[in-house]
Amino acid sequence: MLMKKLLIAAGSLALGFGFTGCDGAEGNDPGSSYAPDMYYSRAVETYGYNNITEHGIYDHLAQKGIHYNGLPVPGTVARGDMNSYYLTKDSTGLASAQGLRNPLDTISASPKGMKEAERLYLVNCGICHGQNLDGNGPLWNNGNGPYPAAPRNLMDAYSKALSDGQYFHVITFGIRTMGSYASQLRPDQRWWVIKYIREKQGGGAAGANSADTTSAAGTGNAGAVPSTQSSQTN
Ligand code: HEC
Repeated sequence: MLMKKLLIAAGSLALGFGFTGCDGAEGNDPGSSYAPDMYYSRAVETYGYNNITEHGIYDHLAQKGIHYNGLPVPGTVARGDMNSYYLTKDSTGLASAQGLRNPLDTISASPKGMKEAERLYLVNCGICHGQNLDGNGPLWNNGNGPYPAAPRNLMDAYSKALSDGQYFHVITFGIRTMGSYASQLRPDQRWWVIKYIREKQGGGAAGANSADTTSAAGTGNAGAVPSTQSSQTN
């Protein structure tokens, strides 16, 4: 009995060596691995790129009728992020947006915060709307650039009179010939960009017309931007 057990043990040991092949494989030969499932995980990684056929993972799931694209479900809010924008991409949503306040108006913007806001503006908007916000960025370049439509001059009276909510809605969904920037900018980043634009608008034009006051509904400016500007921007 004991003898038999010993034999089996010895046999499986020998088998194990035979399969793993990690003992003294020559040169670059990795040998063959025993139970590769244990080495190469078949787990679907959350937020990972799982659309791979190499190990058959994606195909495997699809065959089972599971269509997994790795994206969080709609409405998911990242930890620490602001709530998703709940207004819809239509005239009703746009109308409701008018009453939105920039949540950043209640905090004071550090120079560092404004620097980052400027960077976000320049990267995402400046290429069209211009680094001076005059609507003449490199993609437009007085009509000689590749973009087919004239970007809005963000320093004109019309743009100054738009509510913060309109800006947010436009960045989120785009408008007419302008596309959406929702995938490039998180909600809080959009508000920072708006804060930056407001600062520029306020700093530029003295006595920025009465339209500003009308659009001021719901966008109070709690002294968040430097004093000279805060009286200007709605
Ligand atoms: C690829 C070019 C392009 C980029 C980048 C771009 N815009 Fe625009 N934007 C336009 C064009 C073109 C219009 C004019 C749309 C129209 O009236 O047909 C416009 C219009 C606007 C308007 C006026 C909306 C209205 O209600 O009339 C605002 C505000 C605006 N853009 C803000 C931004 C902000 C903020 C960013 C950056 C997050 C940005 N845009 C990025 C091209 C661009």
